[in-house]
Amino acid sequence: MNQIIGTSVSRKDGRVKVTGEATYGAEHQIPGLVHGYLVTATIANGRIHNIDTKEAEDNPGVIAVFTHRNQPKIFQPSNGFFGLYESRLPLADDLIHYAGQIVGLVVANTLERARDAAHLVKVQYQTEQPQVEAQKATYQKAPSLFGEDFEFQEGTFETGDFSIASSDAAAKTEATYTTEIEIHAPMEPHALVAHWENQDSVTVYEPTQWVKGSQRTYAELLGIPVEGVRIISPYIGGAFGSKAFPWPHGILCVAAAREIQRPLKVVVSRRQMTANTGHRSQTEQTMRLAANKDGKLKAIEHTAKTCTSPVKNFPEPCTGITPVLYATPNMRLKQEIAVLNVGAPTFMRAPGENPGMFALESAMDELAWELNIDPVELRLRNETKEHQRKKLPFSAKHFAECLKTGAEKFGWSQRQMQPRSQKQGDLLVGWGMASSAFPALRSSAEAQVRLLPDGTAHVLTSANDMGTGAYTVVAMTAAETLGLPVAKVKVELGDSVLPNGGMAGGSQMTATLTPAVLAACQKVLETANAQNAPEAFANLRESGRAAYEATASSAPSEESKKFAFNSWGAHFCEVTVDEEIARLRVTRWVSVINIGRVLNSKTAASQIRGAVIMGIGQALMEECHFDPNTGYPVVYDLATYHYPAHADIPRIEVNFVGEPDFNFNPMGVRGVGEIGITGVSAAVSNAVYHATGKRIRSLPITPDKLL
Ligand code: MOS
Repeated sequence: MNQIIGTSVSRKDGRVKVTGEATYGAEHQIPGLVHGYLVTATIANGRIHNIDTKEAEDNPGVIAVFTHRNQPKIFQPSNGFFGLYESRLPLADDLIHYAGQIVGLVVANTLERARDAAHLVKVQYQTEQPQVEAQKATYQKAPSLFGEDFEFQEGTFETGDFSIASSDAAAKTEATYTTEIEIHAPMEPHALVAHWENQDSVTVYEPTQWVKGSQRTYAELLGIPVEGVRIISPYIGGAFGSKAFPWPHGILCVAAAREIQRPLKVVVSRRQMTANTGHRSQTEQTMRLAANKDGKLKAIEHTAKTCTSPVKNFPEPCTGITPVLYATPNMRLKQEIAVLNVGAPTFMRAPGENPGMFALESAMDELAWELNIDPVELRLRNETKEHQRKKLPFSAKHFAECLKTGAEKFGWSQRQMQPRSQKQGDLLVGWGMASSAFPALRSSAEAQVRLLPDGTAHVLTSANDMGTGAYTVVAMTAAETLGLPVAKVKVELGDSVLPNGGMAGGSQMTATLTPAVLAACQKVLETANAQNAPEAFANLRESGRAAYEATASSAPSEESKKFAFNSWGAHFCEVTVDEEIARLRVTRWVSVINIGRVLNSKTAASQIRGAVIMGIGQALMEECHFDPNTGYPVVYDLATYHYPAHADIPRIEVNFVGEPDFNFNPMGVRGVGEIGITGVSAAVSNAVYHATGKRIRSLPITPDKLL
């Protein structure tokens, strides 16, 4: 049988995407479709004193204007319900908690008329001074984001005695690191079309990372059975954590469509998205490390302060990865949180691990200089065999291999152990490195496989592809198991009527879904009494049946509970600094990553490259700020929010260890979506120190900080 797993296969969905044939949420054409435009708050704190919709209602083509005085029917979700980004329901009352909060929805027969009329809605506010400054906020102990037993364990934790352990240490470092608010900025804006067939049945065309989750959320909020909601989400133009649950605009669109009895489309404008479709909180983290002369860590203290919104309690879980990375007998982890007048912060590529590891990996670098130990060596000496909170051994770790291979491929041994020691003409050259790590998650999933007389296999599941390559790895898994070329496998994803394919979040889709695809393929061959698909097709023609089909599921085994699962890696980079004009460029990048078995070498490497690029953006330019007086975002589009362009990015060399992790699942694969961004900003900052002798502890490293 041909080996397909592990080879380089171009995206199944690549052609339809680049030719424009792929239909995204807002592109669904339905006869009679009308358009909604959001009216958003221009103050960040206070209440609506008066809202005058008369002029808007009288505008040509306007069908309805919804405000808190006539909000469409939305039901309270049940207790403990974990399916909303904002806890507050849209248009719930007259209170304003953040600038950009939705205060109305204008529906008209064209987008232009809806938008025009939206500007005619007159809102008078009673304004109170907003608080949007993290430095001035009051912090308190943060709740655990996911509850005590969850994988991403974070929050407050203490083992050993930090003070005693650090008192007689050979080396100690203490420093505070800050990161700014980042926004997801996916290429495809948040948008949806809601189409009610009758009062109990609605189809929602919306990009979502979790088809079955959205289905359940909408059903709860609309007060109809789950089967009454159909979610269709075949293509997603990027999400990064911001499309996992419904946002208020989506809830409002679906609820309003029921009231007006027309199919309704709502597209959130790029400007509106900054305020009301999520962001990563700013963080302030203090790291204290203590070590022996030989570099062995005696104590780690990690305190993280993050901010949230009046409409959501979301602590960015920065301390979750700290006990996973390095062995220490004494550890103290603390998370604190403050409420600001901003929209809901949320999951954004490696929530917690990413800013958490900027602090930890910068601190490890500072400790390495303090001890005069190579930073790669320092990490090797502190490797932990077990997960220090779960007390379980790691499965298929190979972290040391990532560090060593990365050092070798980069040529790390040539590094001069002295800041400002490497030059290229007038430019200072710096080399930096950092570890990379992300938990490996897996849930249960189900897939259906059909073998058809035309010699094709179809795989069907509700899972989705948010641009990560899910279509392709599903096809590759089926092709290899069935003994077919990839081109003979058709994959149907992103529809809630299909078997439960799980969620594309926490980098778990591939590890969750492909074992189910494998099981369904094996089962369909059994059903066909065949070794492979060509044999099955022959049997099919002989029997005169229309198809062979089988549905199977796969879930984590009991055996797997004996291990802790995590993915590992190391980044190495070079920067150049022109000190005269404070120009910093990243000029070389090598990443070595262990995600277990690599299913598609092309799309897996793409995931790492994309994540490294996003991390370089965080390191050098991405930041969102709010005007302290008005509370309004001063960054509001893709021109004011700076992120890397091609010219900012060097060639990124990606290598995988590739050893399958069969303790984790029968495919031996762990997730690849998020790990790549972890450690990136620290590697850059560490290289900047090596180049310039300046330790920059606040991201992004903009030119003013280098002067
Ligand atoms: Mo990811 S931030 O769990 O979509």
